[in-house]
Amino acid sequence: DPVSRLIVISNRVAAPKPDGEGGAQGGLAVALSAALREYRGLWFGWSGNRIDEFTGKIDFQRHDGVTSATIDLEEQDVEEYYNGYANRTLWPLFHYRIDLAEYVRSFGAGYERVNERFADTVTPLIDPDDLVWIHDYHLIPLGAQLRQRGLRNRMGFFLHIPWPPARLLTSLPAHEHLVLSLLAYDVIGFHTKEWLESFQNYVERELGGHCEPDGTIHVGERSVHAAAYPIGIDYKEFREAAESEAAQEAFERLRKSADGRGTIIGVDRLDYSKGLEERFLGYRRFLEDHEDWQGEVFLLQIAPPSRGEVHTYEKIRESLDELSGRINGEFAAVDWVPIRYVNQGYGREDLAGFYRASQIALVTPLRDGMNLVAKEYVAAQDPEDPGVLILSRFAGAALQLTDALLVNPYSKEEISDAIKQALDMPREERIRRWRSMNEVVKQEDVVWWRRNFVAALQGEATQDERAA
Ligand code: G6P
Repeated sequence: DPVSRLIVISNRVAAPKPDGEGGAQGGLAVALSAALREYRGLWFGWSGNRIDEFTGKIDFQRHDGVTSATIDLEEQDVEEYYNGYANRTLWPLFHYRIDLAEYVRSFGAGYERVNERFADTVTPLIDPDDLVWIHDYHLIPLGAQLRQRGLRNRMGFFLHIPWPPARLLTSLPAHEHLVLSLLAYDVIGFHTKEWLESFQNYVERELGGHCEPDGTIHVGERSVHAAAYPIGIDYKEFREAAESEAAQEAFERLRKSADGRGTIIGVDRLDYSKGLEERFLGYRRFLEDHEDWQGEVFLLQIAPPSRGEVHTYEKIRESLDELSGRINGEFAAVDWVPIRYVNQGYGREDLAGFYRASQIALVTPLRDGMNLVAKEYVAAQDPEDPGVLILSRFAGAALQLTDALLVNPYSKEEISDAIKQALDMPREERIRRWRSMNEVVKQEDVVWWRRNFVAALQGEATQDERAA
C-alpha cells in the first residue's frame, strides 16, 4: 500500500451500519466511512455524548473495517461549539443567511476551546507519516491547533458546505482570524468552483493574498493549495442497495399506496437551507395552476428533524407543520391528500426503492454545498423508464447535473412550471437527460472524490485537476 495511514477528523463520526440504517445522517458521514474502508486509518470525532466534566478519554471502536476514536464533550461545549458557533453562527452565515446568524462571543470561545480539546486528544494518536484530513465547518481552526502542538504532517481540510461571498463573510466578527487559521493546511478543498472563487476573492480582498491559476494561494510567507473536489455518492454500493430485496419492497409499498397517481419525492434533513417552505408553496402553486392534476399526483416529503436544540430549527419545523397542514386542508379530498409529510428517517435501501417509485424528485435547496440526494435519485432510476430530477440552481450539484430541470427555488412559478414540464416529458427525453446525469454520478463518485483529494494531499496534481 503506497498510501500512508489516513487520519480523518470530523465532528460527527458515524459509520453507517451495513443494513443502511442511517436516520438523519448527512452526506459527510456516509462519504467518509466509504473512504476510510479503503485505507488503514482512524476516524476521530465527537461521540455525540455529553458529560459533566471533560476527561479526554478516548473510546476506540472497530466496525465495518473502520476504526473510530471518539471523545465526549461537556454540556457547555455542545452548547457553545456545536449548537452555538457551528450551527447558529457559521451554518447560517455560510448558507448566505446573515439574517439568521448569531454573533455571540461565548460561542467563538467555546469553538476555540473544543478545537483545542480535539487537538490535545488526537495529537498523541498521529504518527509522523500519517496524512491528516479534517472535515467541515466545526473544525476550521483544528489544523492550526495541531501545528501549534508540533505536528508537521501533510494536512488537508475539506468544507462540506458553501463558502460565502466575501461581502457576507466580513459580517462575522474575527473573520480574518478564522480564515487565517485555514492557512495551516497544505490543501483546502471545496465542492465547487463557485465556493472556491468566493474563498479566493476573500483571500485577495481581505488578506492581500495572491491566487495562481494552478490553485496555489500565497498569503505572506504561506502557500497552500485550494481547489474544487465535488463529492459523489458510493455509486457501486448504492446500486447494490437499490437492487436489494428491501428496496424492492419499499418500491412496491410506495407504488401500491400511490394507486396510479404520480409521485413527487423530496428527502431532506429538516433544515431552513433546504427550501422546504418554498418547495411546498411551489407545489401548491402547481396545484392551483393545473387543477386537472389535483388528485392525480402527490408530494412525498421525507424530512427527519435535525439540530432540534437550535431555535431556528424549531421554528422551521413549526412553519412546515403549519404549511403542510394548511395546504392539505385546502386541497385534500376524501380520497386524496396532496402532501405526505413524514418526519421520520429511512435507511438507504428504503430510500432507493422510494426514489425509483417516484416520477419526479424535487431537490430545491436555497443554498447547498453539494446535495447527494440529487445524485442518489439519479442512481436509483430504472434506465428504461427514469424519473425527472428538478434541481435548485443553488445546489453545488447543479454544476455537474446540468441535464436536470434547473430552477430558482425562490420562484413558485418556476417550481410549478418545472413540475408540469416533468409530468409531460416524453420518455425519450427522460432517458436522454437521465443517461447524461447518470454518467456523471457514476464516474465522479465518492472514490473519485477521495482519490483526487488524497492525491493532492500527498502532493500530486491529478489528471482531473490539470484538466479543470
Ligand atoms: C451537513 C454537514 C455535516 C453534518 C450533517 C448532519 O451535511 O455538512 O457536517 O454532519 O449536515 O448534521 P449534524 O448536525 O446532525 O451532524
